[in-house]
Amino acid sequence: MVDVGIIGAAGYTGSELLRLLLFHPEAEVKVITSRRYQGEYVQRVHPNLRGISRLKFSGVNLSKIGDECDFVFTAVPHGISKDITPELLDMGVKILDMSADFRLKNPELYPVYYDYEHPRIDLLEKSAYGIPEINREEIKNADLVACPGCLATSGIFGLAPIVKYEAFNLENIIVDTKIGSSAAGDSPSSSSHHPERSGVVRAYKPTNHRHTVEIEQELSKIAKKPVKIALSNHAVDIVRGILATIHVWLSDDQPIAEKDIWQMFREFYQNEYFVRLVRDRKGIYRFPDPKVIVGTNFCDLGFELDVHLPRLVILSAIDNLMKGASGSAVQSFNVMLGIDEKTGLDFPGFHPI
Ligand SMILES: NC(=O)c1ccc[n+]([C@@H]2O[C@H](COP(=O)([O-])OP(=O)(O)OC[C@H]3O[C@@H](n4cnc5c(N)ncnc54)[C@H](OP(=O)(O)O)[C@@H]3O)[C@@H](O)[C@H]2O)c1
Repeated sequence: MVDVGIIGAAGYTGSELLRLLLFHPEAEVKVITSRRYQGEYVQRVHPNLRGISRLKFSGVNLSKIGDECDFVFTAVPHGISKDITPELLDMGVKILDMSADFRLKNPELYPVYYDYEHPRIDLLEKSAYGIPEINREEIKNADLVACPGCLATSGIFGLAPIVKYEAFNLENIIVDTKIGSSAAGDSPSSSSHHPERSGVVRAYKPTNHRHTVEIEQELSKIAKKPVKIALSNHAVDIVRGILATIHVWLSDDQPIAEKDIWQMFREFYQNEYFVRLVRDRKGIYRFPDPKVIVGTNFCDLGFELDVHLPRLVILSAIDNLMKGASGSAVQSFNVMLGIDEKTGLDFPGFHPI
């Protein structure tokens, strides 16, 4: 049993971490922080945990957290973890950071995409990018895991099996996403105000989204050559979930059949419990749909080869708060502990919902 803390536990990824970790057989949640709700019971913010936990939120006292916890999940906005994680690491605490502060290996990208100069380039080198399916060995030995962005996760899972093959053009891949409102976190804004947010199909960062570089970083590693991504996102009228529709153009001189592509996906994910290949010829769920994986750690993947244009269309569905954040973080936590990766995560979604 290890003692864990969550900094930023009143937010949405914090909420999911609590839901998972309170039932995790190898974890005891010792500290949960919220500056706004300090001294209040957890159910004041997370009513789904009523009667399940008597934990109270506390302030962010790093030396106390370091004394009480073996592992800390930092579920805070970008730009904050970089200032608190080094102190916790120095106290011997292992960190799973939900923010982008340790995801990018190239420090020059931080001022461009996150508006700050990175103060700890040494830790960028040491951090493990937190997708167990592609980075298991690094995560196992890491003290600091940089959990991936939710849009990045949907794109990386869809593309990882194919980027090493010559049959695809890696220079102009389009990742078009639809995403629910919980991705924006728990702070209200005029754009998240119900009359403005309800019913929308709103383009959100059609170009230059921060996660572009994260996807390129991880896929280029797998491909062993540069991969270029055009990422365009849309806010839609759901609370949770991402559907990424990914367009990949085929190289002119490399004809490829659908069965070859299935082979690539099957080979890449053959031992991965949380990745499901969707290939039904009948019924209404013939392609991945975030609706059926809400609340779970699954990523559903499917594809279709376009006979009109030489194009592969890949569909990737996740819950942004689970496989796109807290579920994946708990999976990495399990890897760090050396226990079954499914621990605390092995349940299906609801149907119907
Ligand atoms: N939402 C998603 O789908 C998603 C998916 C993947 C990754 N992420 C990333 O995960 C992180 C958390 O996201 P979220 O959606 O959970 O955000 P959120 O709902 O806004 O929660 C963030 C929490 O951090 C706390 N906080 C803010 N500033 C702080 C500070 N200076 N020191 C300590 N605590 C502070 C806040 O609580 P108090 O103000 O009460 O302390 C807040 O509840 C972000 O970096 C986000 O980009 C989010």
